Amino acid sequence: MLKGKAKPEELAKIRRSFEIIGDIVIIDIPDDVLHLKDEIVKAILAKHKHVKTILRKVGEVEGVFRVARYEAIYGNETETIAKEHGCRFYVDPTKVYYSVKLSGERERIARLVRSGERALVMFAGVGPYAIVIARLSEAKEIVGVEINPAAVEYFRRNVELNKVADKVRVVEGDVREVVPELPGLFDRIIMPSPYIAQNFVDVAAEKVRDGGYIHYYTFAGEDEEEELPERVKRLFSEHDIEIEVELLRECGNYAPRVNRYVLDLRVRRI
Ligand SMILES: C[S@@+](CC[C@H](N)C(=O)[O-])C[C@H]1O[C@@H](n2cnc3c(N)ncnc32)[C@H](O)[C@@H]1O
Repeated sequence: MLKGKAKPEELAKIRRSFEIIGDIVIIDIPDDVLHLKDEIVKAILAKHKHVKTILRKVGEVEGVFRVARYEAIYGNETETIAKEHGCRFYVDPTKVYYSVKLSGERERIARLVRSGERALVMFAGVGPYAIVIARLSEAKEIVGVEINPAAVEYFRRNVELNKVADKVRVVEGDVREVVPELPGLFDRIIMPSPYIAQNFVDVAAEKVRDGGYIHYYTFAGEDEEEELPERVKRLFSEHDIEIEVELLRECGNYAPRVNRYVLDLRVRRI
């Protein structure tokens, strides 16, 4: 769509893909083609007529809350409703983490959950894992723990919006402080924060029942993939549980030749 409006060397620098969250577009535009911003906006709006805001990413996902920095290049409303698997999520990407790219992974996990299970979602964000599990499975209870107050507020609103208050419990706080205080053990623990999951292995090990599952997310280079199962086994063995890696799966690219991986771990308490 930009052919004839930009030089070939400029076109080569413009990313062809962008993320659409509800009616918000998130796009990377390198500084040296920023003068083409208005043409890029026009092209996006011509294809995606429902879009009301376009955010340009100006800083990487960072900090404890895992939020990137953006500048609005079209519109100014930053709250939207994202839809996946028949669920709806209020979200403001300038305040909380949410990624459309993980929706397939959320559905995969939800389909593994068996009737009557108690599940714990650490690092729960605005609640997409917890709510998709509640809607697609017959879990008895899902507890989601999140530290970012803005995400907790959206999580609570999303529980109401999706009518899952009878199954989903939202807990605000640091996983390290609040999870040990939760009653009982869990059949399944989901650790969807690849940056920090390794720092919370001891907390998960304490709270999973014998025969239960942990879904462990991590970043790793493509060349490290083969050694990942042994590396993760060693991490957990330091905390008195044995794990069997039932599945190792790449679930997204993070940087050149660095991916997000998930490992489904079957737990045996020693
Ligand atoms: C990568 S995001 C994942 C959010 C959500 N699971 C999703 O898939 O949309 C990680 C989340 O963990 C939260 N977080 C970081 N450290 C935490 C901690 N110690 N305890 C609880 N939540 C934490 C962040 O605020 C952020 O919302």
